[in-house]
Amino acid sequence: MARKSMHGEWSSRWAFVLAATGSAVGLGNIWKFPYITGENGGGAFVLVYLACIIVIGIPVMMAEIMLGRRGRQSPINTMHDLAVESGHNPNWKWLGWLGVLAGFLILSYYSVIAGWSLAYVFRSASGAFTGATADGVESLFLERFLAHPETLLFWHTLFMAMTMIIVARGVKSGLESAVKFLMPTLFLLLLVMVGYAMSQGEAFTQGLEFMFRPNFSALTWGGVLTAMGQAFFTLSLGMGAIMVYGSYLSHTASISRTTFAIAAADTSVALLAGIAIFPIIFANNMEPSAGPGLIFISLPLAFGHMPGGVLFGSLFFVLLSFAAWTSSISLLEPVVTWLVETFSLRRITATLYAGILTWLLGVVSVFSFNDWAFEFEFAGVLKENGVFDILDILTTNIMLPLGGLFIAIFAAWFMSREASRDELGLGDSMRYNLWRFLVKFVTPAAILLVFLNMLGII
Ligand code: PHE
Repeated sequence: MARKSMHGEWSSRWAFVLAATGSAVGLGNIWKFPYITGENGGGAFVLVYLACIIVIGIPVMMAEIMLGRRGRQSPINTMHDLAVESGHNPNWKWLGWLGVLAGFLILSYYSVIAGWSLAYVFRSASGAFTGATADGVESLFLERFLAHPETLLFWHTLFMAMTMIIVARGVKSGLESAVKFLMPTLFLLLLVMVGYAMSQGEAFTQGLEFMFRPNFSALTWGGVLTAMGQAFFTLSLGMGAIMVYGSYLSHTASISRTTFAIAAADTSVALLAGIAIFPIIFANNMEPSAGPGLIFISLPLAFGHMPGGVLFGSLFFVLLSFAAWTSSISLLEPVVTWLVETFSLRRITATLYAGILTWLLGVVSVFSFNDWAFEFEFAGVLKENGVFDILDILTTNIMLPLGGLFIAIFAAWFMSREASRDELGLGDSMRYNLWRFLVKFVTPAAILLVFLNMLGII
């Protein structure tokens, strides 16, 4: 029994791949991956992150797309209907709720950081970085930017408005062509940055060693949890974003091939960003553990010294803002589809309600970087930005993996074998059985292992 989505369908499998890649590739790859790698000591962290992508991320992504395509609604109603359909408790809808809530919390601070990226387009274009020193770019960021809540608020507001405009119009129009041109350009520009990093002599090798030589004594269980959370965050998993996009996917598209393409693109962008950034950090005697400002102080330094730096710098932040935009759209979409389905609201009204509420919560993150900043330690890492850090840890390290755990459990233990086999379209092949083995045993066990270790239970 195939359902149809009341919100429409993608024009092709490609449109879905592009939109899902647009959702996956974002601040998580370019802003977050380098800074948390820096905070957690490098190599060993990267290795655990890659392992999580393979063992947890890919199987969960397949499960999420599959559930979405079978349910064809917002995550909440999809989980409800799929549970009832297979004779289980309708309370599975709470899993959808967990996701919608996570999306709302993530978007609130995501939009603030995306606002930084927007602001940095103009800073680059004005030539503010030309010839700058390490101290110069740092004070430009910390004292002349982060310290001013009204500036951050302005950019946060602009970014939230941009996100709301697209979601209100329906995500399927426009997203496709935007992603088609912008993603490859972003990729090329990252290669240019890697080229610049290579010109840093010694520091390039130092950067590579930092990222790829595992030193397990630098990694705590907190770091492992952060790496696992990042695997969910970067692939947009565990909160229904990919589920909603899957719900617009046609029945003929191959879920497994699509998943591999998205995961490969996403992982390459993150690794390239790291390879571009760490050599700059080492060449200028900066700290890899500088926290959320890492790319906003290291990259401007590179742009300030490379030929064509004003152009490359502006273009880079334009593309980063676009990448963030295509991700934020997917964070808002699950909430909006649910409002539309449940209260028969118009898309535009639903977007306004959800967007304004998210914007309001974002204001708290704006102040986390200045007036309301406070410090605390999380698993051995010093966090300096109060509520922003708390929201990030709560969503990325707890809510997303928890969502992923239940998605895996539902797909493997509750949904019938016939249903998942039929939906994945892999027949009774090796690939299907491998997937099922992973989501049934390996993925849940891995997530539980990390949680229990973190809590000190094992
Ligand atoms: N994957 C996005 C990024 O890396 C963030 C995101 C998380 C988007 C969860 C949707 C859902 O920036």
